[in-house]
Amino acid sequence: MSLKLRLILSIAASLVLTLVLGGAVLFWQARTEAQNEIASSFRVTEHAIRVTLASDLEHDVTVRQVIASIDGHRNLRAYLFNEKNKVVAASSLGQEATHAPGWFTKLVAPPPMTVRMNLPLPGYPCTLLLKSDPANQAALTWQFLRDAFGAMLLFSAITLVCVWLAVEHSLRFFRRFQSGLRTISDGDYETRIAPGGGPDFVPLVEGFNHMAERLSSYAKKNQRLQEQILSLQDEERAEIARDLHDEVGPYLFAIQVDADAIAKSGQPRTKERASAIREATLHIQRHVKNILRQLKPVNGLDFGLETAIDDLIAFWKQRHPDISFERKIASGLKLDRRGEEVAYRVVQESMSNAVRHGRPHAIRIQLREDGSDIHLTIEDDGAGFTAGQNRDGMGLKGMEERVRALNGEFAVEHRVHGVRVRAILPCAGARNVKEMEDA
Ligand SMILES: Nc1ncnc2c1ncn2[C@@H]1O[C@H](COP(=O)(O)OP(=O)(O)OP(=O)(O)O)[C@@H](O)[C@H]1O
Ligand SMILES: [Mg+2]
Repeated sequence: MSLKLRLILSIAASLVLTLVLGGAVLFWQARTEAQNEIASSFRVTEHAIRVTLASDLEHDVTVRQVIASIDGHRNLRAYLFNEKNKVVAASSLGQEATHAPGWFTKLVAPPPMTVRMNLPLPGYPCTLLLKSDPANQAALTWQFLRDAFGAMLLFSAITLVCVWLAVEHSLRFFRRFQSGLRTISDGDYETRIAPGGGPDFVPLVEGFNHMAERLSSYAKKNQRLQEQILSLQDEERAEIARDLHDEVGPYLFAIQVDADAIAKSGQPRTKERASAIREATLHIQRHVKNILRQLKPVNGLDFGLETAIDDLIAFWKQRHPDISFERKIASGLKLDRRGEEVAYRVVQESMSNAVRHGRPHAIRIQLREDGSDIHLTIEDDGAGFTAGQNRDGMGLKGMEERVRALNGEFAVEHRVHGVRVRAILPCAGARNVKEMEDA
């Protein structure tokens, strides 16, 4: 059950309890009061009649006047009986505007009160009967209780509405807080919660925003470090490549020259050995060249990313003519040298993975601009990832690191047939603005 419903139900339950208990007490008091009122008015009227009759007992007109004086009384009626027990006069009961239901009158009414007074008038013996009637008092009590209950119900309803609104107001804040937390957990550390919801929530808002600021600054630091690591790696690779080229290259060349010299001067057997040495040296030279190509930063980009990707396609096409390559590259992409290098590396590794691991029929490369982002997709229709495959390689990790270092997004999707690699890179301008902000 939701917190809001639980709160409202518990308040509603306590209000109902208050209504029941308060109503019972109120009813009991009103009932006692009604009964006292009927009893006391009965006693007062009886006493007044007795006094009047005792002081003026001359003829029946006086008795009729007594009865007339009770006319319109709310709780009593008086009857005059002649000696044949026939009603010769009766007072009428005062009428209240409302009527109580019969069951309520029964609940409220005291036991009926009657008194008979025999009047031995000379020549006209008669009897005066005084009788209580609870209908009017019950109607008054009914009206009072109805109004009181109405007021209590209205109060309860207003209380519930106020509590509902207050809870809703607070929950609105918690919903904002929750969505802020979700955004943070999705990696968007730039999100902040606007103040609101009352002073009780100010520390929460401040705490959240402080946490988001710290996370954002750590993320920026982390990204800068990643960039530095990558550029250090590139520098290190370039240095190794230079050393390899400068140190090993000349010696290999020297071995080649020496082997040629030996071949020219020596015996046929020596000639044979020398040319074997030459062959082996050529083989090592080719191998070193390959290593150098891999170690050096991308150099095919001098003619643009599109040309570099076309070269890659040509490279694989030559070795795998059965694979069809499709490429869709939008013109005028806003990528700086670093962005182009990352895009190139992603295409290079994804194509290599597709050919090596997937054995696809087709590989599609797409590069397009969307707002301030460049979307790069490489998909193949090969075997895709299979369970139990060794994933200890550096390729996927390296691509992801490169893309994230540019504050981009990277994803590898498993498809029914094949794999789709997706990278989103910020455009050159957008990245520069971000870097300035980070600094
Ligand atoms: N396009 C693909 N089709 C099928 N499997 C793939 C594909 N791309 C990657 N894989 C699987 O994911 C694994 C990890 O790829 P990753 O590029 O990280 O390493 P690798 O290619 O094995 O080695 P490295 O790239 O370090 O030379 C691969 O070994 C392969 O099993
Ligand atoms: Mg790989």
